[in-house]
Amino acid sequence: KQQLSKQSQLKVDLLACWALMKVVNEMCPNITRIYNIGKSQSGLKLYAIEISDNPGEHEVGEPEFRYTAGLHGNEVLGRELLLLLMQFMCLEYLSGNQRIRHLVEETRIHLLPSVNPDGYEKAFEVGSELIGWSLGRWSNDGIDIHHNFPDLNAILWAAEAKKWVPRKMFNHHVAIPDWYQSTNVALETRALIAWIEKMPFVLGGNLQGGELVVTFPYDRTRSQGVVREQTPTPDDHIFRWLAFSYASTHRLMTDANRRVCHTQDFAKEDGTINGASWHTAAGMNDFSYLRTNCFELSMYVGCDKFPHESDLPEEWENNRESLLVFMEQVHRGIKGVVKDHQGRGIANAIISVEGINHDIRTAADGDYWRLLNPGEYRVTARAEGYSLVSKKCEVGYEMGATRCDFTIGRTNMSRIKEIMEKFKKQPIKLPMRQLAARGSRRRRLGT
Ligand SMILES: *[C@@H]1O[C@H](CO)[C@@H](O)[C@H](O)[C@H]1NC(C)=O
Ligand SMILES: *[C@@H]1O[C@H](CO)[C@@H](O)[C@H](O)[C@H]1NC(C)=O
Repeated sequence: KQQLSKQSQLKVDLLACWALMKVVNEMCPNITRIYNIGKSQSGLKLYAIEISDNPGEHEVGEPEFRYTAGLHGNEVLGRELLLLLMQFMCLEYLSGNQRIRHLVEETRIHLLPSVNPDGYEKAFEVGSELIGWSLGRWSNDGIDIHHNFPDLNAILWAAEAKKWVPRKMFNHHVAIPDWYQSTNVALETRALIAWIEKMPFVLGGNLQGGELVVTFPYDRTRSQGVVREQTPTPDDHIFRWLAFSYASTHRLMTDANRRVCHTQDFAKEDGTINGASWHTAAGMNDFSYLRTNCFELSMYVGCDKFPHESDLPEEWENNRESLLVFMEQVHRGIKGVVKDHQGRGIANAIISVEGINHDIRTAADGDYWRLLNPGEYRVTARAEGYSLVSKKCEVGYEMGATRCDFTIGRTNMSRIKEIMEKFKKQPIKLPMRQLAARGSRRRRLGT
């Protein structure tokens, strides 16, 4: 009987997540849309809500942002915070809050509150008081979703050591190796990867629990997880800023007088830490940075992984401003469109910033976003078959990305090829023998 009541209670709560999304969607139908990115191992849908003035569509020039939570099913605070965040944004939008209106109109925001609903179910069944440190952490098939991504760090670093970058391999968009498919990949991880690769995300945060700190990549050291040590990305400056933007606006993270969660006092480091110098393991953050254009960080939003329901209002107040401020950072740096001379956007063009060994690419309409701290940058746009163009782009201190558009023309060679293809002719290619014969004749004739 007791088992039964637990079961029904469970359904109510699982329903609550979905029901709450539906309520928000009904309250704010013109700025929200519910969709799912796939299913968990036990068949539960992984629901996301999108908040934007044009839900369901990518608007040219508008950056996309994501928050995910509950990769570890027992770290439930992030899930609750995202459910509160969607209600807050809907209500504030309706009441005309200018800051929220601006954010909704200029950004496409995706919230995925429960990446691992199977694990959550297990944790929830036991409840806040009785749950230990790890029950419900893993997926149904025992996988730690956060660390279930392919280790692209090793691939990029090996290529760098062989001096393959940038001639034989890019310094970004590292391909997923074939062997990964035959490893133990959770359905939830597969769904996340497909989603991450499909949408032109610019910035993301995954909410974790059990600490009060924001970690930024890399999460894995170069020395294969032996020693923890600082392992900066080429974008270390902006990553530090992004981490600081969350931590410094949190009510407790940078408070030097607060009680530490466990043994480590992160307040001394402004509530932020390079992931590799804390726990070294490749995860979602490194994957996101090395595989896609999206810069991803982890927010450990509270000491308690499964706080009591009565603590939620306080936890919401602790994190509310940080959650908003971090989303707003998607509008930092430069953005623009790469076009050809006919004004058509060029997809997959490469945007390089001098001095930063990590490029990003344009989305389907030729639009791009490059997160950068204030400063003056030499930026280059290039695409296959086009001549590259460089220009100076300046990022100021005020919010709002600097517009930096590029028009690039076809290279002479690709234009010639195009003309010849039009007339169904192939470019003239002399066989090697003929070329060699010519060279020797020339030499003989002394020309
Ligand atoms: C959505 O509806 C609200 C309330 O009717 C209105 O104030 C707002 O301008 C609408 N927004 C969009 C993007 O259509
Ligand atoms: C391409 O051709 C134009 C003339 O059509 C010439 O002026 C230009 O220098 C050429 N560019 C390159 C890179 O060869």
